[in-house]
Amino acid sequence: MATLKGSQGFERHYAAIYGERWTRLKAALLNPRQGVPFQQGLTAPYYLDPASILCAQTLPVKENAVLGDFCAAPGGKTLVLASRLPPGATLIANEKSATRRTRLVNVLNRHLPEELRRRVMVRGWDAALFGRSQPLSFDGILLDVPCSSERHLLEQPQYLQKWGPGRGKHLAIQALALAASALDSLKPGGYLLYSTCSLNPEENDGVWEKLLKKRTCWEKIELKDLPGETTRWGKIILPDQHGGMGPLFFTLLRKNLPDL
Ligand SMILES: C[S@@+](CC[C@H](N)C(=O)[O-])C[C@H]1O[C@@H](n2cnc3c(N)ncnc32)[C@H](O)[C@@H]1O
Repeated sequence: MATLKGSQGFERHYAAIYGERWTRLKAALLNPRQGVPFQQGLTAPYYLDPASILCAQTLPVKENAVLGDFCAAPGGKTLVLASRLPPGATLIANEKSATRRTRLVNVLNRHLPEELRRRVMVRGWDAALFGRSQPLSFDGILLDVPCSSERHLLEQPQYLQKWGPGRGKHLAIQALALAASALDSLKPGGYLLYSTCSLNPEENDGVWEKLLKKRTCWEKIELKDLPGETTRWGKIILPDQHGGMGPLFFTLLRKNLPDL
């Protein structure tokens, strides 16, 4: 049987993964998003999904830490991280796309008080190169990778028509390269918070199943007392079960001895 593309293929693909639940989940994904204002430590509120706030609050931070947000634009999670910067800590907010980087800079300028803004440096590197260019350099990294963004696809039928099963596979391969690079650029004892807004297990737990074959220098940190369904490597918050929040998958890892 030929592989189906477009909305029919999308439907069949996710119905096969989520079974009977898919109808409820899809209905919840089609509901308007539930953005909430985040203002703690900011000069103006920024509206984002409460799941994104929860996620960005999970990365452990300490005084004088060097932190990285490797895929940062438009900057919602960067603001949450920046609002938690302890004394002496700095944050590199990195975004490869020049257009999106401009948006990121505007968001940071508009929402961060001067003292925090001075400690957030914006960069435009390819995050897949951090591992080589800056090995063993960061105490904590947020890696919020580009992903299938199914909620976005459902909201924009013109993109749904272009969907194919290769899309998620391609994004999972890209995420694997970014995750390996982020691990290499962490100091031993540093933390990596990996996240996606995808429903596709290949882009979530699947990345860490594959990474285990390339790097063994990490361990999972249990995410206790947080909303979300527990998966093998992290948590997934889905809107049908969490009051419209998500989708958001996140996993927190600690680096042990380097593989380098
Ligand atoms: C899921 S979005 C990040 C959302 C952001 N963390 C937030 O909460 O507002 C992923 C971002 O990664 C950027 N990106 C994609 N590939 C990249 C790469 N190789 N290096 C750095 N950034 C990249 C994309 O342009 C996009 O802006």
